[in-house]
Amino acid sequence: KTNQSWGGRFSEPVDAFVARFTASVDFDKRLYKHDIMGSLAHAKMLTQVGVLSEPELKAIEDGLTAIQQEIEAGEFDWRVDLEDVHMNIEARLTERIGITGKKLHTGRSRNDQVATDIRLWLRDEIDQILAEITRLQEGLLGLAEAEADTVMPGFTHLQTAQPVTFGHHLMAWFEMLSRDYERLVDCRKRTNSMPLGSAALAGTTYPIDRALTCELLGFEAISGNSLDGVSDRDFAIEFCAAASIAMMHMSRFSEELVMWASAQFRFIDLPDRFCTGSSIMPQKKNPDVPELIRGKTGRVFGALVGLLTLMKGQPLAYNKDNQEDKEPLFDAADTLRDSLRAFADMVPAIKPRREFMREAALRGFSTATDLADYLVGKGLPFRDCHEIVGLAVRYGVDQEKDLAEMSLEELRQFSEHITEDVFAVLTLEGSVNARDHIGGTAPAQVRKAVARGRELIAAR
Ligand code: ARG
Repeated sequence: KTNQSWGGRFSEPVDAFVARFTASVDFDKRLYKHDIMGSLAHAKMLTQVGVLSEPELKAIEDGLTAIQQEIEAGEFDWRVDLEDVHMNIEARLTERIGITGKKLHTGRSRNDQVATDIRLWLRDEIDQILAEITRLQEGLLGLAEAEADTVMPGFTHLQTAQPVTFGHHLMAWFEMLSRDYERLVDCRKRTNSMPLGSAALAGTTYPIDRALTCELLGFEAISGNSLDGVSDRDFAIEFCAAASIAMMHMSRFSEELVMWASAQFRFIDLPDRFCTGSSIMPQKKNPDVPELIRGKTGRVFGALVGLLTLMKGQPLAYNKDNQEDKEPLFDAADTLRDSLRAFADMVPAIKPRREFMREAALRGFSTATDLADYLVGKGLPFRDCHEIVGLAVRYGVDQEKDLAEMSLEELRQFSEHITEDVFAVLTLEGSVNARDHIGGTAPAQVRKAVARGRELIAAR
């Protein structure tokens, strides 16, 4: 028996291996809900324009609703010989309601159908991902507010640079996530455009009302060219690009959490429920969640490069190559959503170890820049101050003493402009409080940044 959906011109059934090789149902059945949604809108529109009758529409609606229930109850018999989600559902519809089921595909092709399904699906995924980003950001805001006064060393080159507040550091992650959010909102606009009505590639001879299907499906726009409508996968690539950037951020965040949780840093404790142990080393508590997210980042980058490569050689319009768009796209969305979810759950439960952060900030001459700035205040040119403080640091390295641990006499060896008031400058609090401007690390600024963050989220 040849395929019931397109077997007419074939004289022999498709090779059994080829049938399996070309089938996509194992992964695209995931689109069932959006496929049915699209079919319902298409059928309603066909009825409005007089292609289907009201009783036919009713039969299709009842049939598709029942099929959705079958699928959700796990009772649907997915058949590989029916290739994909679209033909599986259509064949079942015909089984249930008879020849009217065969009329549903009037004025439509699987080409515009699948393009519509993926966009509807991705639109929902983006909404879930946006919600997870917001949840993670709320966690960061809470922690940043609680740790606005906590001092830690800030790093460049992973060497101690200047003291910063832990809240300020957390708010850096908040900023990155805000950009990730915006990128996805922007990508959603271009995803939310309707290819349905493009049919196979050229449009259709039926008097379709695309504005009506667009409205029924909640699309913001109608694709302006049928050839482009069926073959464009920019939105999926754009999503993977935005997802890749977000995962890159998550990966950097993960790397810091892994370092901070180590016995060498001891800046944080991760809750036990987000860690695992070792089967041989009894003392181990491994930061698996951030490690895994750092590792999973590669899958999402892979999806982006995979989709770009998938599209680069395709002539217009639809080609079977496009069937390969789904798995990377599904995987990228799942990976991003799950990673965000894990972090959104974990971040509020991070326990900062303030005493170790402070101890680390007191080592490594983190207030050297403050001493140079202090000398500038006494009227010296900055470059000379840099030199003077450099000599003081070298002395400190030899004597194993931080700047704040030196006596006034010791400090005055390097410049007689140094007086008793220097010690206020050399404290960690003096250092962070002095950076009191928009974007600076002062606790007062962290609190303002948190307030701005709350407003941003409230306006979403
Ligand atoms: N399963 C196909 C896909 O995912 C649906 C479209 C098939 N169209 C076709 N003309 N063979 O792209």
